[in-house]
Amino acid sequence: MTKRDPAASDSAARDSATPASAAREAAALGEQLRRHAHLYYVLDSPEIPDAEYDRLFRRLEEIEAAHPALRTPDSPTQRVGGKALESFAKVRHKVPMLSIRTETDITPAGASAFDSRVRRELGLAEDAPQVEYVCELKFDGLALNLRYEAGVLVQAATRGDGQVGEDVTQSIRTVQQIPLRLLGEVPPVVEVRGEVYMRRDAFEKLNERQREKIAAGRKNEKVFVNPRNAAAGAVRQLDPAIAASRPLAFFAYGLGEVTPPDQGGPDWATQFEWLQQFHAWGFPVASQTQRARGAIELIAFHETVGRLRDTLPYDIDGVVYKVDSLALQQRLGFVSREPRWAVAHKFPAQEQITEVLAIEVQVGRTGKLTPVAKLAPIFVGGVTVTNATLHNEDETRRKDVRVGDQVIVRRAGDVIPEVVGVLPESAARPEGERGPVFSMPRQCPVCGSEALREEGEADYRCTGGLFCAAQRKEAILHFAARRAMDIEGLGDRLVEQMVDAQIVRTLPDLYKLGLSTLAALERMADKSAKKLVDALEASKKTTLPRFLFGLGIRHVGESTARDLALHFGKLDAIMDADEAQLLEVNDIGPVVATSVHAFFAQPHNREVVEQLRASGVRWDEAEPAARAPKPLAGKTFVITGTLPTLTRDEAKDKLETAGAKVAGSVSKKTDYVVAGEEAGSKLDKAQALGVPVIDEAGLLRILQGEAG
Ligand code: IVH
Repeated sequence: MTKRDPAASDSAARDSATPASAAREAAALGEQLRRHAHLYYVLDSPEIPDAEYDRLFRRLEEIEAAHPALRTPDSPTQRVGGKALESFAKVRHKVPMLSIRTETDITPAGASAFDSRVRRELGLAEDAPQVEYVCELKFDGLALNLRYEAGVLVQAATRGDGQVGEDVTQSIRTVQQIPLRLLGEVPPVVEVRGEVYMRRDAFEKLNERQREKIAAGRKNEKVFVNPRNAAAGAVRQLDPAIAASRPLAFFAYGLGEVTPPDQGGPDWATQFEWLQQFHAWGFPVASQTQRARGAIELIAFHETVGRLRDTLPYDIDGVVYKVDSLALQQRLGFVSREPRWAVAHKFPAQEQITEVLAIEVQVGRTGKLTPVAKLAPIFVGGVTVTNATLHNEDETRRKDVRVGDQVIVRRAGDVIPEVVGVLPESAARPEGERGPVFSMPRQCPVCGSEALREEGEADYRCTGGLFCAAQRKEAILHFAARRAMDIEGLGDRLVEQMVDAQIVRTLPDLYKLGLSTLAALERMADKSAKKLVDALEASKKTTLPRFLFGLGIRHVGESTARDLALHFGKLDAIMDADEAQLLEVNDIGPVVATSVHAFFAQPHNREVVEQLRASGVRWDEAEPAARAPKPLAGKTFVITGTLPTLTRDEAKDKLETAGAKVAGSVSKKTDYVVAGEEAGSKLDKAQALGVPVIDEAGLLRILQGEAG
């Protein structure tokens, strides 16, 4: 191989008017930028900050603007060059691009089958040494042939039919992981082959942008079904600017035409040496690539990569084993366009085709309605799948999934199976032969309450929060939470048991629980049953904000509950308020107003509230805010340590009801620090800042209006 002198090739491009100093600086900048881009995009270990890279880049752009002769095609500034093409030119491959035979047995035994075949075809005796292989990943992208002359990328072509592909040089130049100029020593001609692909994160981002464009009314845009499909779309982009906005990546794994050794070309003996050379030239080579001896090590590779598969940031559909020795490769030769020395050993497919039998709507624990496709059972991603999510109404319509359609189902890793899209043949059937367009029911399929979709939200939700069986467990846990009704001892496991055994269906059932019912539950001793009965009894005396918060109305958190309670004073006033009246409350906007109104518009929810009151749940009702005094408005308190009778939450409730703000840390703006036992640094800080410190008694005096 010949050592290329970068300055020499650059000066060749320069005309007589270009000063030598500019040419030298441009060449030096080019070398630096190539090196740093390689460190950043390929090795993932940048040595300089992005800003410094940008500075070097801009400097090179400046020089090239002043001396256009220095703007060579392999300059780092020239990745997105040229105008949009009309069409792609055809390229006849100098060396055909072959495909690999696929081992049909996807179990580890597939690896031994390949090794046995190789040994047999090489005529190796049983006691002959193990064959050496290179194990690679089977990337799920598109094969490319990259032609370099004197180390400079002159053409990128797709595989096409293996003989003739398409010239995609313009879009491929935008792929940062593909060098425009090889690093180090290069043969006069070399064609590097490999896979161009899109990372899963880039794919998700691209689709997000595509969805936004579609939502904005751009008719020609589409959402891509998988990273492979998105990569193909980007490679076959006629406009290089659009290609550049869809980040692609690359792995090198093979060789096309190369100058023979007797004409200055490399003299390689193994596949592994190629890969090392590709890496040295600046290409990414998958780090998992390794040499292996014999079937046992092939099997181990297949298993290791199989476990790793879902953690990789890109899709692979298997591994590839290649006989390492190029001499042995030659001896093995080809059968009908497929080399005998390589095999693709797949993993269970993550995408399959099946039929949609029905579309059902499921209700989640929090009331979210999700359309789910019921499928003809299909083995995908290693398990048999009969359900796949369609996410929401918009997605279902966008993909236009109908009952009876043949669809692509994807299950990758632990991710729940999803319907990716409809096969074109299904989608093309006349409207009368297809099922109806999906539309979300306006009633919850579980409880019949109204299902609502808020503005700007993708999901419909059931408004029967307290009544809906799907939401029971969640509703009870929320109601019992410390900041709501504070029912001590009523945790996850217990609620699970009570609901499953149908002892508790709705919230009021909680207050009907007797000692004997509770003691019959698993892991429930008499003593803890008694404790729970007491806790339930104690929880009946509560405050309106806690009760409201405990109802689990969507968008009604603690502070909104307090605002509502403060404004209306009485629960009935809140239950009967229309949206306009709700909007009068401080800090309440249309989303919350709609949600509160919808909640109390459900007769089921009102019944639950009435039953709770009937079972003795009570609070002190107050005057509506307009008339209620707010003596502590504008004052800020901090509570620290343990107070003798009030819990911190109770003290906070009282203060906030009186209009005060309760902050988490002490500052100059704090009006009072309420300190109890074992007050720590907050007390020290108050003293340092000279903030008045009071105890619980002092707090109660202030609340009663005796001081403050
Ligand atoms: S080698 C002579 N190595 O699989 C063998 N191919 O069916 C030529 N592929 O078109 C290909 N990962 O798109 C090879 N590590 C790998 C590969 C790989 C993915 C794809 C490639 C090729 C197809 C062959």
